[in-house]
Amino acid sequence: MVMVVGGSFKFLIWVSLVSCLASVSLGGYVPPTNYLINCGSPTSTSIGDRTFAADDYTSSVLSTQQNVSVAAGSSSGSISAPYGSALYRTARVFTEPSRYTFPIRQSGRVWIRLHFFPFASGSYNLSTAHFSVAAQNFTLLKEYRSKADPEVREFSINVNSGNLVLNFAPSAGSFAFVNALEVFSIPGGLIPESAQMIASGSSHSLGNRALETVQRVNMGKTTVLPENDTLWRLWDSDDKFLRHDYLAVNVTDFSSVSFKNKGPTNFTAPVSVYGTATRLNSDGDPNTLANVTWHLGVDPGFDYLIRFHFCDILPNPHPNFYFNVYVESWLVYKYLDLKNLTGYVSGAPYSMDYIAGSVASDTLTISMGPPNSDNNPIAILNGLEIVKISNSKNSLDVLDVSFPKSSKSNLVRIILLSVGLIIIVISAFVVFFICWRRRRLAEAKKGPFAAYGGGMIYSTDYSNGTAFSISKLDYRFPFYAIQEATDSFSENLVLGAGGFGKVYKGVLRDEMMVAVKRATSQSQGIAEFRTEIELLSQFRHRHLVSLIGYCDEMDEMIIVYEYMQNGNLKDHLYDSDNPSLSWRQRLEVCIGAAKGLHYLHTGTAKSIIHRDVKSANILLDDNFMAKVADFGLSKAGPEIDKTHVSTAVKGSFGYLDPEYFLRLQLTEKSDVYSFGVVLFEVLCGRPVIDPSLPRENVNLVDYAVKNLKKGKLEEIIDPKIRDEIKPESMKKFAEIAEKCLADCGLYRPSMGDVLWNLECALQLQVNEEFALQLNDELPRSRHGDGNSQISPAKSFGTTAMGSTQLGDLADVSMSQVFAKLVSDSEEFQLQK
Ligand SMILES: *[C@@H]1O[C@H](CO)[C@@H](O)[C@H](O)[C@H]1NC(C)=O
Ligand SMILES: *[C@@H]1O[C@H](CO)[C@@H](O)[C@H](O)[C@H]1NC(C)=O
Ligand SMILES: *[C@@H]1O[C@H](CO)[C@@H](O)[C@H](O)[C@H]1NC(C)=O
Ligand SMILES: *[C@@H]1O[C@H](CO)[C@@H](O)[C@H](O)[C@H]1NC(C)=O
Ligand SMILES: *[C@@H]1O[C@H](CO)[C@@H](O)[C@H](O)[C@H]1NC(C)=O
Ligand SMILES: *[C@@H]1O[C@H](CO)[C@@H](O)[C@H](O)[C@H]1NC(C)=O
Ligand SMILES: *[C@@H]1O[C@H](CO)[C@@H](O)[C@H](O)[C@H]1NC(C)=O
Ligand SMILES: *[C@@H]1O[C@H](CO)[C@@H](O)[C@H](O)[C@H]1NC(C)=O
Repeated sequence: MVMVVGGSFKFLIWVSLVSCLASVSLGGYVPPTNYLINCGSPTSTSIGDRTFAADDYTSSVLSTQQNVSVAAGSSSGSISAPYGSALYRTARVFTEPSRYTFPIRQSGRVWIRLHFFPFASGSYNLSTAHFSVAAQNFTLLKEYRSKADPEVREFSINVNSGNLVLNFAPSAGSFAFVNALEVFSIPGGLIPESAQMIASGSSHSLGNRALETVQRVNMGKTTVLPENDTLWRLWDSDDKFLRHDYLAVNVTDFSSVSFKNKGPTNFTAPVSVYGTATRLNSDGDPNTLANVTWHLGVDPGFDYLIRFHFCDILPNPHPNFYFNVYVESWLVYKYLDLKNLTGYVSGAPYSMDYIAGSVASDTLTISMGPPNSDNNPIAILNGLEIVKISNSKNSLDVLDVSFPKSSKSNLVRIILLSVGLIIIVISAFVVFFICWRRRRLAEAKKGPFAAYGGGMIYSTDYSNGTAFSISKLDYRFPFYAIQEATDSFSENLVLGAGGFGKVYKGVLRDEMMVAVKRATSQSQGIAEFRTEIELLSQFRHRHLVSLIGYCDEMDEMIIVYEYMQNGNLKDHLYDSDNPSLSWRQRLEVCIGAAKGLHYLHTGTAKSIIHRDVKSANILLDDNFMAKVADFGLSKAGPEIDKTHVSTAVKGSFGYLDPEYFLRLQLTEKSDVYSFGVVLFEVLCGRPVIDPSLPRENVNLVDYAVKNLKKGKLEEIIDPKIRDEIKPESMKKFAEIAEKCLADCGLYRPSMGDVLWNLECALQLQVNEEFALQLNDELPRSRHGDGNSQISPAKSFGTTAMGSTQLGDLADVSMSQVFAKLVSDSEEFQLQK
């Protein structure tokens, strides 16, 4: 008890002493709460008009078991520090969690400035310190290590009553330190309670957030030191942030600044800030159309409050005094007319605040520029503050931005996968080569062109499927970037709509075309949204549609994909005006989709079941290359010791695996079933469910299987491909499609088998086309001289397949490359 009373008494003396010192302040502002401590120093220190108390007095506000303070040697006499080198000669060291408790005399925001300067003294080398700092419930610094230069970190939090508690927590095996600290009230109204979000325009409350000043810049190429500021702030010179120096001119005129208006006061920013500015350099060219741009460093993943300070201090009145203000590429203020905004009071300052949501990169770009090339274009900025806003984890430290799983385990996975891939590719190549040689030798007797039986392997593109880790951060897009890309979700750009919402076509700033899927708030698909992003960000494959980014700002659920020029497979099969796909194109599309699904099932450590395979989810790029899309329903496959995953039925009617439907057992074979349905859609060119048909034919699966059993395969073929499809190819295709539809998953082939058989079907088609066309040409060539060599790859488009097939040849496809390869070697044989 006695101790406590003694402590409070001591504290009272201290508070009155500090207050007494503060009231001597010359700057005009006397903060109601004002704690300035020169940590570790036995004597108090005056800096300009303020006095930093000696650390001895603080024992009642400081709770620590150890009294360790260190002093720098005499060698550190000349530290260049804006706050004065006197603060950096001593430090307090904490070898265990310790805290300062500051009673707050008036509720409101306080600034907390922490001064760090690591020096080595006795047994403590402060450069090795490693620690975290928290205030109330906010993380200010996490696992912090001090740099060699004096560093001042400025935070602000709202304290409504009672005490402000500042915690120093050393990391395991290390210690914490601080050279000096300031805790003082910020004048009311200086920091807004809320501000407008860029792009959405909605208001965002700041009241219960902690803030950290990351950049405070004085335009006009001059630094304003704390001693010259009304609130002891440091305003950095803008010259190191200027993008193009030649586009900027600094102007100075302190005398024309006037705080007579109601707007900003000399607390918002002092005369020394409003009295200097950087303006657009239009001196050489009165029609200059360019921006003055600053690049400012920030930590990605946070929201930032951006405060602009303007003041017209230009010597000559300008007729067209208006300009545009941009943050990143976003136009935050169009035609900013300073004269109008300040009510035509000359020299009156103006400030405005915006919040940039989830900044994705480590630089923030701020630009000012004339809207058009009027005579005497003008753009001016006097000051700029960039303030980090604490995130949902109540943290201001970049370590608390969610990153995906440890990159170490991913690295191991990548290495294992790459080694595996190399082995697969090499062995596939060796096997292929041996088979090919053997067959060529065996078939040589039968004549040169009978050589292409089934079972030829094309490149299966496994090498394109590489699981690699990209931080989710790289994928996160700010909402305004998406608005910009889609022209604010223009109806003219809608590509499609469904239960989930709409898909828009968009163009990113780098001119990349994208498809933007925006879920409506009603469609409750947050789980599906997450699944899709998590899956897509984990892998990339030639035949899986790529994730470009996503946005979850303000309850939005937006996914940005690569743009697929030719839409989905379904729209090229029936019920649309698109030209019909040839049989070979259809085969190549099926092979592509099968590769994508095969990769999903086998390419990653844990197999993934797509669960919604259908022709509408197979997309086609500008070369009609197929990519599987829509992973919203996808699920990780069964664990090794289990055979299936039990789950609620989801998927699309008509494509559902009956086994899954009846027994709720999900395996990769459910995808195989659905893919079998797609194969029949491709073969028959009709919808999966067609209510306009007689009842027994409504369902494609029943219709196809029934006809196959009766041996009436030809009857169900899409009339549009009936002439070109070769019987062998058709038979092979129907055979594998039917196997996919086996009632019992066990009897269905794997995706790898399906892929193999489809490649066979393509090969059979190509062979028959070759054979036909060569029969026409062979006699001529045999007699011809060297100039009339057969060049099958060149000629079969015009002869056997008709001119409509010419387009196919232009497509880059492995089958053709291979066909060309083989045909070249045939030519070689013929010449001999
Ligand atoms: C703490 O240590 C300093 C010097 O290291 C000493 O001057 C001071 O008296 C100590 N304070 C207490 C309360 O022991
Ligand atoms: C203090 O630690 C830093 C970083 O570990 C090291 O570079 C420096 O040499 C050390 N200084 C002394 C005096 O030991
Ligand atoms: C801080 O967290 C504690 C519980 O952990 C809670 O009681 C208190 O209200 C929080 N304080 C603030 C300022 O949010
Ligand atoms: C800053 O303050 C110093 C003295 O404290 C003074 O000499 C100097 O002119 C001031 N600079 C500005 C830009 O006000
Ligand atoms: C612009 O800044 C430079 C360097 O700080 C200074 O020398 C020059 O006088 C300034 N010009 C004006 C017009 O203020
Ligand atoms: C700031 O303005 C107030 C009155 O508005 C004035 O009393 C004070 O001296 C000014 N401070 C400075 C540093 O100019
Ligand atoms: C200024 O920058 C913005 C944002 O990057 C851009 O949209 C605008 O076209 C630029 N203006 C000029 C004149 O270059
Ligand atoms: C500024 O412009 C707006 C619209 O152009 C006008 O309504 C307003 O009166 C102007 N303000 C002043 C102070 O002239």
